[in-house]
Amino acid sequence: MTRRWRTLLAVSLIFLSAACTRKPGTASALKPTAFGAALVESSGGKQTGAIGTLLPQPLVVQVNDEQGAAVTGALVDFNGQASVTFDPPSALTDASGQVTTNVALGSVAGRYQLTVRTSTRAQKLVELNIEEIALGYQEQLGFQLDNKYCASCHDPESTPERVSNYDNLEVKPHPFTEGGTFNQISDDDLTAIISHGGPAINKSALMPPYGYTLNKTEIESLISYIRLVSDPPYHAPGTVYTRK
Ligand code: HEC
Repeated sequence: MTRRWRTLLAVSLIFLSAACTRKPGTASALKPTAFGAALVESSGGKQTGAIGTLLPQPLVVQVNDEQGAAVTGALVDFNGQASVTFDPPSALTDASGQVTTNVALGSVAGRYQLTVRTSTRAQKLVELNIEEIALGYQEQLGFQLDNKYCASCHDPESTPERVSNYDNLEVKPHPFTEGGTFNQISDDDLTAIISHGGPAINKSALMPPYGYTLNKTEIESLISYIRLVSDPPYHAPGTVYTRK
């Protein structure tokens, strides 16, 4: 082979492999070599991230057979609203039965339902629903303020950056995701307790006042953040919902 031909071959090989890795959207190109019976989430659900950006952690799911053993070579695909992107959008499970994808949420703040699918040997669809939360500008500010001022008491989990004070508190605050608690408190009462501390709404003085530390916009941002992450979801009073 002449040198010229060899170069040409190398170049076309590069093009070919680029074409293969760049276009995983052609799901039909992936042929499953095995089938599972169940889909389980390994990690990456219930994350919060800024709108239009990659979520901090990838989404990892696993395909298992009827006995609960991991299946290698099963086809998994990821779906969301049009504005959500997955990289890759579909893949075959690896040696540990898992598939990893990077998720970027859309440009509108809110809760995003993602659907993960695989099919059984008998072509029955198996689905797994996963929820992620996209924070808009205001909620993102609230999230940062939470990390800075509130999470040390309200989040029972410690992280590498922050040790939780939760276990030391005599009266236990609630994590902001606890809709059961926060959905009962009006915006006015949230503003009051954040500004003036626990006693403002007959709660413990272990909840400090932030009226001198945070301005009105910051307190509003914290409230919109709390409203967005609450589980079950918060329904603003007065909103009419269609029958299920
Ligand atoms: C030093 C610990 C501490 C910090 C920091 C703290 N809180 Fe609290 N918070 C508490 C405690 C304790 C309660 C529970 C009071 C009770 O139930 O009587 C509470 C209660 C609350 C409540 C009422 C709902 C609940 O969990 O019972 C809200 C709303 C609240 N805090 C918001 C905030 C916000 C927003 C921040 C950050 C700006 C913050 N807290 C920072 C300790 C803290």
